[in-house]
Amino acid sequence: MTQTASVDSDVLKVHGGRPLQGEIHVRGAKNFVSKAMVAALLGSTPSTLHNVPDIRDVKVVSSLLELHGAAVDYDVVSGDLRMDTSDLHPADAFQIAQHAGSSRIPILLCGPLLHRLGAAVIPDLGGCRIGDRPIDFHLEILRKFGAVVEESGDGLHLSAPNGLHGIKHELSYPSVGATEQLLLTAVLADGITTLHGAAVEPEIKDLIDTLQKMGALISVSTDRSITIEGVSELRGYDHVALADRIEVGSWAAGALATGGDIMVRGAQQRSMGMFLNTYRKVGGEFDITAEGIRFYHPGGDLSSITLQTDVHPGFMTDWQQPLVVALTQAKGLSIVHETVYENRFGFTKALGKMGAQVQLYRECLGDIKCRFGQRNFLHSAAISGPTPLTAADITVPDLRGGFSHLLAALTAEGTSTVNGIGIIDRGYENFRTKLAQLGAAID
Ligand code: EPZ
Repeated sequence: MTQTASVDSDVLKVHGGRPLQGEIHVRGAKNFVSKAMVAALLGSTPSTLHNVPDIRDVKVVSSLLELHGAAVDYDVVSGDLRMDTSDLHPADAFQIAQHAGSSRIPILLCGPLLHRLGAAVIPDLGGCRIGDRPIDFHLEILRKFGAVVEESGDGLHLSAPNGLHGIKHELSYPSVGATEQLLLTAVLADGITTLHGAAVEPEIKDLIDTLQKMGALISVSTDRSITIEGVSELRGYDHVALADRIEVGSWAAGALATGGDIMVRGAQQRSMGMFLNTYRKVGGEFDITAEGIRFYHPGGDLSSITLQTDVHPGFMTDWQQPLVVALTQAKGLSIVHETVYENRFGFTKALGKMGAQVQLYRECLGDIKCRFGQRNFLHSAAISGPTPLTAADITVPDLRGGFSHLLAALTAEGTSTVNGIGIIDRGYENFRTKLAQLGAAID
């Protein structure tokens, strides 16, 4: 497949203290593109996905598809990704683990592979270390459809000796991955599947649109219920991926933290409502046009806020980390309550080292009594500001926390050393080039 192989250093020197200013372009959402690529496995004819970013997670899923016999061709310039899954074969757990690296995508391959090949394997899964991230919801769903799950030394082996049949299911928490698991399995299962308590993130809605193009029958109600009538065959699709709202929010937070002005081409208002409301409350300004969204700091003081992360249509957890960097520059005490992941404030340790005043709490500091309140998790934060940040030697903990470290280094006066920067390539396309386009001094 045609891909750029960028060999970049894992350490970035950031000479901070200057505003990010200029124009960048954001392409398709990592958290949709990877799932749409898995959906291609369900089609008997080739699929084409447009607006695909050149990020490591796309390379990982491409190699997982290729490992199972698919032909994948990616044109990095146009962003067109063509997948021919007409001739598939099984792969072993060791190979899957090697290709998956730290990605959690192998769990989502199970439904499609059980339909197409009658077997699937899940190696030990990775993903960002932001909480336990169990897969119990996924396994419960697959078992209910009729999958038999057997544990062995190299992972979990799944088979479907009696086929996969529609189910009635209710999620105890609206998990994004579990909703996708159910969709990707139900579309070709025999009979009707109903899901209550579904996640309804824009990336899931785009996945449903994609599956509909393939021939699936899916109806979504306004009360988090989804009904799927199984069909016997699906064809390939042609689809343009929705914009990456997490990347858009991350650059927007950068404009605020550094006192800058960034035009994000490709950004779409419709998936960012709660972010835009919050941005405005903090004191950030934005102009929405047909080409994208311009985010900027209008001058003067930023305002402190109270904020709770939540499933869609709430303020998404992945926006929390970059925005916290901007909140270190807001006047007064901001309160942030993380209700999606129990352990998503680890990145604030580095901010503290750089001069930020962040205090973590085990209590729920907000009106949502979340699943972590009665347990021993530091999942609420109080941020006092504004505090000038100073340069430091820091190490990236995970994807979004890593981007936040980068933003903190760009905000801080002096030269910071950011180690482990390669993690950011998982989800931020060409971020070094984009930083240079925005006038950042990095080497
Ligand atoms: C997706 O993760 C995204 N990843 C995450 O983005 C995102 O933060 C998350 O959704 C929430 O929006 C991808 O799409 C690849 P969940 P997912 O299942 O599907 C618990 C990023 O940086 N849970 O909605 O894994 C879980 O522990 C990443 O781009 C179970 O308890 O998230 C968490 O507390 C990070 N059992 C909550 O549900 C399960 O079997 C929400 O997780 C599954 C999940």
